[in-house]
Formats: sequence, C-alpha cells, structure tokens
Amino acid sequence: MQVLVAYESRGGRTRRAAEAVADAVRARGSDATLKALSEVTPQDIEHADAVAVGSWVQGFIVVKVGPAKAALDAVGRLPAMGGKPAAVFCTYAASPRATLAILRRSLEAKGAKVVAENASHRSHPDRGAAELAERLCASA
Ligand SMILES: Cc1cc2nc3c(=O)[nH]c(=O)nc-3n(C[C@H](O)[C@H](O)[C@H](O)COP(=O)(O)O)c2cc1C
Repeated sequence: MQVLVAYESRGGRTRRAAEAVADAVRARGSDATLKALSEVTPQDIEHADAVAVGSWVQGFIVVKVGPAKAALDAVGRLPAMGGKPAAVFCTYAASPRATLAILRRSLEAKGAKVVAENASHRSHPDRGAAELAERLCASA
C-alpha cells in the first residue's frame, strides 16, 4: 500500500509531525511518500491508496483560527479523490479550535473519506502519529 503524507509547514514542526506519520506507516509495512502540500501533483494523488494531510494552525485577527491559508489553498488545487481514505492532522501552540474540522471538510469536498484526525501541540509534534497511521492504514 502507498500512503502520501503531505504537509504545510513554516517552522518545521508540522513537517516533523508528517515524518512521524510516515515513519509509523512504514513501521506497519506500507510505503510512505512525504511531500510538501504545495508540491503535490495530481499523479501523487492518483498513485496513493491513502492520503494524510497536515497543517499548522493559523489564527487570523477577528476572523477565526483554522488551517494555514496556504494549506487550504493547496487542498483546493488537488484533484478529485473519489472516496480515497484520508487523515488530517495539525500542530498548534494554543488551541487547534476548528482546524481539524475545516481541514476535514476541505478534503471531503474533494471526495476523500476522512477516517482519522489528530492535533498535536508543537512541543510534541509526533504525538498521536502512530494511532493516526494505524487507522488510516486499516481503512485503505
Ligand atoms: C502567523 C501565525 C499564527 C498562528 N496562530 C495560531 C493560533 O491562532 N493558534 C494556535 O494554537 N497556534 C497558532 N500559531 C502557532 C503554530 O500553529 C504552531 O507553532 C505550529 O506548530 C507551527 O507549525 P510549523 O512549525 O510547521 O510552521 C501561529 C503561528 C503563526 C506563525
């Protein structure tokens, strides 16, 4: 099985969270490809049996707290996923608030079937990665 782990990271913590997900996928005997979300191509999606998408939490004054704008923009450019299993994750400093729900809906809008989600504090970006990978792999 081939799992694509795509992340939007500015300071490296969400990249570390993504690496932990990819490591956990490989530990379960599947293949994992790690890629910045902005560099994901339609072919990457096509070749993946399951997809994990992660973002850092970005707060906007007055408006709301959610996934980084760059992450939502990149997900918006992805091709249709036709029921492919997916997982969403994020790293945060104070609170993820609605970040996972918004990320989940953006992937569901592409036709993905979101089966797992995890928010980890930036001080422990790898926390919860193994459970997320387990649920995603079990669904693919
Ligand atoms: C511009 C900016 C806005 C942020 N807003 C929030 C926020 O509203 N809530 C929160 O919990 N963390 C917020 N953070 C913290 C980041 O989400 C957190 O440090 C995250 O782990 C960074 O991930 P990265 O290292 O992959 O970029 C913000 C960070 C930046 C740079």
